[in-house]
Amino acid sequence: MNTKIIDLQVLDKAEIDKAYAEAGQVIRDGGMVAFPTETVYGLGANALDAEAAARIYAAKGRPSDNPLIAHIADESQLEDIAAYIPKAARILMKEYWPGPLTMVFKKKDCVPYGTTGGLETVAVRMPDHPVAARLIREAGVPVAAPSANISGRPSPTTAERTAEDMDGRIDMILDGGSCRIGIESTIVDMTEEVPVILRPGFITREMLTELLGEVRIDRALEKPQENFRPKAPGQKYRHYAPKAPMTLVEGDMKAVVAKIRELAALSLAEGKKAGIVCTDETREYYSDGIIKSMGSRESLESVAHNLYEILREFDEIGVDVIYSEAFSKDDLGFAVMNRLMKAAGHKEILL
Ligand code: TXA
Ligand code: MG
Repeated sequence: MNTKIIDLQVLDKAEIDKAYAEAGQVIRDGGMVAFPTETVYGLGANALDAEAAARIYAAKGRPSDNPLIAHIADESQLEDIAAYIPKAARILMKEYWPGPLTMVFKKKDCVPYGTTGGLETVAVRMPDHPVAARLIREAGVPVAAPSANISGRPSPTTAERTAEDMDGRIDMILDGGSCRIGIESTIVDMTEEVPVILRPGFITREMLTELLGEVRIDRALEKPQENFRPKAPGQKYRHYAPKAPMTLVEGDMKAVVAKIRELAALSLAEGKKAGIVCTDETREYYSDGIIKSMGSRESLESVAHNLYEILREFDEIGVDVIYSEAFSKDDLGFAVMNRLMKAAGHKEILL
């Protein structure tokens, strides 16, 4: 398939109008358009069309029991696809939509099982990005969109990274520049008495608790080593993963630096190319290996923003092993650590 890549940033108004009209038509016709959101790039298709959803699974190489998020551009679209909208969801919508928050509801019949991976529920999100919003409006239907990566790889945060995985597999890529947040949305299950966080993200547990009083965390997230079955099916797969095996090192900062230095030196002695994922605060203490800082520990936003891009850079360089510093699991650190732990396949050295 020939993938049309359209850079919206260099077009004039008439060309932009034409690009959106074409993209909307592709979605209505059952095709696939990748587009930017504030979190990561999404791979969009008509959420109400089971065949279109099936094409997404094929393009990503994704297991079909892993449901897709339906993206909407205004609240009336939620009424179309959710059978019941609890009060707590209305509170969250008011504060965080449009934004990096996905909520799970009982689905209406119009949402095919092909989109929900056979579940009776549907995950819904209203992205806070002008390109995403306009594409959804132009399509006139809710847009099912997983992250636009080949299944298992780190999510793409630019159109270039999207093309790396999707060129030749989908109809169109809309280039709207780099994504502001860089990790996927927070997912909250609103079908339970007490809302449950299924995937941590930019909207933190602390922020949700402040509005709702009580919020739980899916046990599979808190104790991944105990093999609870996660309620977000996608959380059970190895994920966000660089090609090289990665190990997380957690503990007191000085001890972590010493351990990673030791591991990198050992790798070098074995003739292996080691990648080191560090922070601005520790950058200068490393010498062996290819060293990349995710940003300052004082700004977890920058760490989240750079995380996937750095993992993909290590893929490009072709390192043999990766060692990464860990973070505290407070606030946004919980989401960052969730991604790092998955990238490392839960391989962690606790000091
Ligand atoms: O930020 C995001 O959410 C991005 C952008 C493109 O919007 N999308 C995204 O989609 O991350 P994806 O498909 O890569 O991840 C969706 C996650 C999966 O872990 C899936 O299992 C879970 O959402 N999910 C979807 N529908 C669900 C449902 N009905 N119940 C529980 N989990 C669900
Ligand atoms: Mg994904």
